[in-house]
Amino acid sequence: MSTKFFLVSNKVKKFKKSIEVDGDKSISIRWLLLASQITGISKAQNLLRSEDVHSAIECLRKLGIKIKLSKKDCVVYGRGINGFKYKKNLILNAGNSGTVGRLILPLLIRSPYKIKIIGDKSLSRRDFSRIIEPLNKIGVQFFPKRKKNLPISILGSKYLRPIDYHENRGSAQCKTCVMLASLNTPGQMRIYAKKSRTHTELMFYNLGIPIEIKKINEIDIIKTSRPNILKRYNLNVPGDISSAAFFIVLTLLTKNSHLILRNINLNPSRLGILKILKKMGANIKIINKQFSIGEKFGDIIVKSTSKLKAINCLSSLNSSAIDEFLIIFLIAAKSKGVSYFKNLSELNKKESPRLKLGSKILNMIGIKTKVTDHSIKIYGNPNLNLNKKYEIKNYLKDHRIMAMCTIAALALGGKWKIYDPDSINTSFPSFTRILKKNFGVKFK
Ligand code: S3P
Repeated sequence: MSTKFFLVSNKVKKFKKSIEVDGDKSISIRWLLLASQITGISKAQNLLRSEDVHSAIECLRKLGIKIKLSKKDCVVYGRGINGFKYKKNLILNAGNSGTVGRLILPLLIRSPYKIKIIGDKSLSRRDFSRIIEPLNKIGVQFFPKRKKNLPISILGSKYLRPIDYHENRGSAQCKTCVMLASLNTPGQMRIYAKKSRTHTELMFYNLGIPIEIKKINEIDIIKTSRPNILKRYNLNVPGDISSAAFFIVLTLLTKNSHLILRNINLNPSRLGILKILKKMGANIKIINKQFSIGEKFGDIIVKSTSKLKAINCLSSLNSSAIDEFLIIFLIAAKSKGVSYFKNLSELNKKESPRLKLGSKILNMIGIKTKVTDHSIKIYGNPNLNLNKKYEIKNYLKDHRIMAMCTIAALALGGKWKIYDPDSINTSFPSFTRILKKNFGVKFK
C-alpha cells in the first residue's frame, strides 16, 4: 500500500552514530546488465534492492534472463552477448529509471523484432534523443521516427558500424550507452567524453572487455571493442554515496553531532559532494580505504559545524556531484554568504526539474535565490531556523526532492507535510527505516 503523505515535525536531537546505507544504484544496474551478457552464472552481494533496480531485473527477465534473488544475494544466469531470448511484441518497462531506460537499449541493437520501451510519467518526459542519435549512427532504428522520449520502439540490425562519439554533457549514461553498444558492434568505438562517473570503464577492465583510455585535459578518449566471450562477474556492491549524502548533510546541520558512514563507494568520479562541502567548511574525513574489483570504498566520518561558508562552485565539479546538488543547496541555505552554482542545465533534466524545484523549496523556507535555466545563486542565512508549516506536493515523485525535504525538516525544523514519501523507494528504500532506527525519527 502506498502512503499518501507523511508528517515530519521534530528536529533530530544531537547524535553520535555509525550507519550503512543501501548499495550503489549505478553499480547495481550496470552489474545486472553486464551479468546478463556473460556466458554463465554471476553473483552480487549487497545489490541495491530498489524499484529502479527491480525495473532492470524485470526487463532482463522479460528478455529471457533467469535471475534469482535471496535475502543477501542476486544470481544472474547470463546467456552470453546477444543471447537474449524473447518473443515478438515485447514491451519493457523502465519505470522511473533513466539509467535502466537508456542503458538497456544498447543491449538490444541486434534485435530482429521491434521492442517497445515504456516508463512512468517522469521518465516519459525525459530526453532520449541523446542516446537515439548515437545509436542511429551505429545503424539502429527507432519508432516513431524523430520522437525524443518514451514510449519508443527500437529495431536492431545485423549491419552495425562503430562511431566516433563526442559526449559533451558530462553524462555517464550517454557514454555508457555507446560503450555497451560496442559489445555488439564490429570494429572500434571511439568516445570523446567529458568527465563523468567511471563505473562502466572499471567493469570493462574487470571483465576483460577491450578498452583503452587516454586522458587529454578535461576529456577522456575511450576506445572499446567487441570481446569474444565474457566470464563470470561476482561483485560486492558498496554503499551509494548519493544516499550517504543525505546523512552527511543531516550531520553537518545538527549541532554537536558525529556520524560514521561505513562501506561507501569512493570512486573519485563521484566525490564532488565531499569536495564541495569541504570547501564550504565541512568537517569530513575518509578512513579505511580499500579496493574491490577496481572500485574504491571506505568509511566517511562527518562532524557538525557552525562555520559553513558560501561557495562559488567550479563547473568542473558538476558531473561528480550531479545527483547531490539538491542536498548541497540546503547547506548553501544555511551558510554565510551567497553561493553560486552554474552550468547546471542538466539538473532540470532529471526525475524532476531539480534546479527549478530546488529553488522553489528554498524560497518556501525563506531563502532568497536567483535562478536561471542553468544557474542558481543562493543567499545563505546561518541563523536559518524553521517554525512554519510546509507542504511538498506535485514534485513528479522525485525521490531526491522527497529526501531533501525530509532532511530539511529534521535539521532545520518546521512542520512538514510531504506527499508521496514512497518515491524514495526508487533509489534508497532503507531511508526512512534508518531515520527511525538510528535517529529516533517519528513519521506520522
Ligand atoms: C547515472 C548518471 C547520471 C545520474 C544518474 C545515474 C548513471 O545521469 O544523474 O542518477 O548511473 O550513469 P547522466 O548520465 O544523465 O548525467
